[in-house]
Amino acid sequence: MPFTYLRRENARAAGAALPAGERRHASPGPEPPVLELIGVGKTFGKTTPLAALADVSLRVSRGESVAIVGPSGSGKTTLLRCINFLVPYDTGRILVNGRLIGYREHRGRLVPDTEQRVNDIRKRIGMVFQRFNLFPHRTVLGNLLEGPLYVLKVPRPQAVERAKAALERVGLTDKIDAYPAQLSGGQQQRVAIARALCMEPELMLFDEVTSALDPELVGEVLAVIRRLAQQGMTMVIVTHEMAFARDVADRVVFMEAGRVVVDHRTAEFFARPATPRIEAFLSRFAVPGGAG
Ligand SMILES: Nc1ncnc2c1ncn2[C@@H]1O[C@H](COP(=O)(O)OP(=O)(O)OP(=O)(O)O)[C@@H](O)[C@H]1O
Ligand SMILES: [Mg+2]
Repeated sequence: MPFTYLRRENARAAGAALPAGERRHASPGPEPPVLELIGVGKTFGKTTPLAALADVSLRVSRGESVAIVGPSGSGKTTLLRCINFLVPYDTGRILVNGRLIGYREHRGRLVPDTEQRVNDIRKRIGMVFQRFNLFPHRTVLGNLLEGPLYVLKVPRPQAVERAKAALERVGLTDKIDAYPAQLSGGQQQRVAIARALCMEPELMLFDEVTSALDPELVGEVLAVIRRLAQQGMTMVIVTHEMAFARDVADRVVFMEAGRVVVDHRTAEFFARPATPRIEAFLSRFAVPGGAG
C-alpha cells in the first residue's frame, strides 16, 4: 500500500488550509499496521448459527482512513465490535499495533487473554457509536474527564488540559460547563468524539455516528471527522454517507454477508464499481459530483 502517497493525496484533498504543524506525514520505513485482521470469523447462535463475519482480512496503516460500507446486516458493526473485543471473535486474529487483542498465544494455540490486558489494548481504541452515551448528570467537562482520570489515571490538571484541547478540536470550547441535555444531537455527538480523543487513541472507530441525527446536524459531525482525517488520525468509519466516504476515506471496504467483497482505493471504488451488487448499492445514493 503506497501509504505516503495516500497521505499526500489526502493533504491535497484537504486543500492548503491546514497549518503545517497539523499535518502528520508517514515515515518512509515499513511500519506495522495500526490494525490488522487476519481471517477473522464470528458466528452468532448455536441452534441456527449465523456467520456475521467470515474470513475477514483487513489492514489499516497509520494515518489511513478506511470506510466500511455495505447493506444492513452485512457485519459492519460486528467487525468494529470485534476490533475492541466487545464481541469475541471465534477464528482468526486481530492485532492492534502488533498486539493480539482478546487472546494470547500459548503453546501454539490461542487462549483467552486476561480482562486486564484486553482493557489495556481497548483503552487506546476510541469508539463512537450511533448513540452518544454521555453521562446525563455530568457536564461536558465531567464526561471528558472520566476516562483520563479513572481509566488512564492522568493527574487532574493534565486531564483538564486534554479535555479543553479535545473540545477545541470539535469546536465546542464554549460548552465545557453545559449538560448533555442542553446540547443538540450534533453537539452531543461531537462531545462523544472529544471524549474518545481525550484517551489519545491510536485508532478511532466510528459506527454510523450521524444516522441518529436530524439531517441539518449531520454536516457538523462529519466536518469534525474530516478534520481528524486531515490531521492524520487512523480511522475505521462505518457509514451510509457515500459522499462523505468518498471525500474522507483513503480506501473503501464493501461488506456483504459477513465478507469483505472489495477493498479498493476510494477513487477506484466509486469510479468502477467492482460488482453489479456494488453498483446497485451505490445507485441508491446520489453521490454528487460524479466519480472520484
Ligand atoms: N449479538 C448478536 N446476536 C445474534 N446475532 C447478531 C448479534 N449481533 C449481530 N448479529 C447478526 O449478525 C449480522 C451482522 O450484524 P451487524 O450488526 O454487524 O450488521 P451491520 O452491517 O452493522 O448492519 P446495519 O447496517 O443494519 O447496522 C446480522 O445478521 C445480525 O442480526
Ligand atoms: Mg451496524
